[in-house]
Amino acid sequence: MVSISKLVLPILLLLIIFVAFQFKGGESGLFHDKVHMHIFNNLTNGVKLTVHCKDKDHDIGAQTLNFGESYNFVFRPGTVVESTLYFCGFRFNTEFYFFDVYDQKRDDFFVGKDCHWEVHESGPCRLNVLDKPNSIECFPWNP
Ligand SMILES: *[C@@H]1O[C@H](CO)[C@@H](O)[C@H](O)[C@H]1NC(C)=O
Repeated sequence: MVSISKLVLPILLLLIIFVAFQFKGGESGLFHDKVHMHIFNNLTNGVKLTVHCKDKDHDIGAQTLNFGESYNFVFRPGTVVESTLYFCGFRFNTEFYFFDVYDQKRDDFFVGKDCHWEVHESGPCRLNVLDKPNSIECFPWNP
């Protein structure tokens, strides 16, 4: 006869793991909500901006934006290992810079389902949603 107690421990463990994920993901349950990335060309004088974003596994491709246009993509940040990192190259006039548009440890707390960046000559500015809502925070380009 298979003893019931042999089944209790694995079931209990699964339950604990499931509950832990529920708390971590908020209302979204098991996985992190998808993030919709929007990167706007806010350069002055109608200067065109070429954006090219990647993470370690995905290449979103290069796109040239007129003033006010946006570069968009959707991704799902890590749930267990919170180390999702999207980095982009930004080209305008004769300048070329890199910037990390989604560094999970830095941004998870500030952005919700939408991550908005406005790109200015001096660097990108993030529109905060969750923490310090409706504020804009500007960052320097990567060195
Ligand atoms: C940046 O561009 C977007 C899209 O055109 C616009 O809605 C926003 O107001 C601009 N931000 C600034 C600071 O000019």
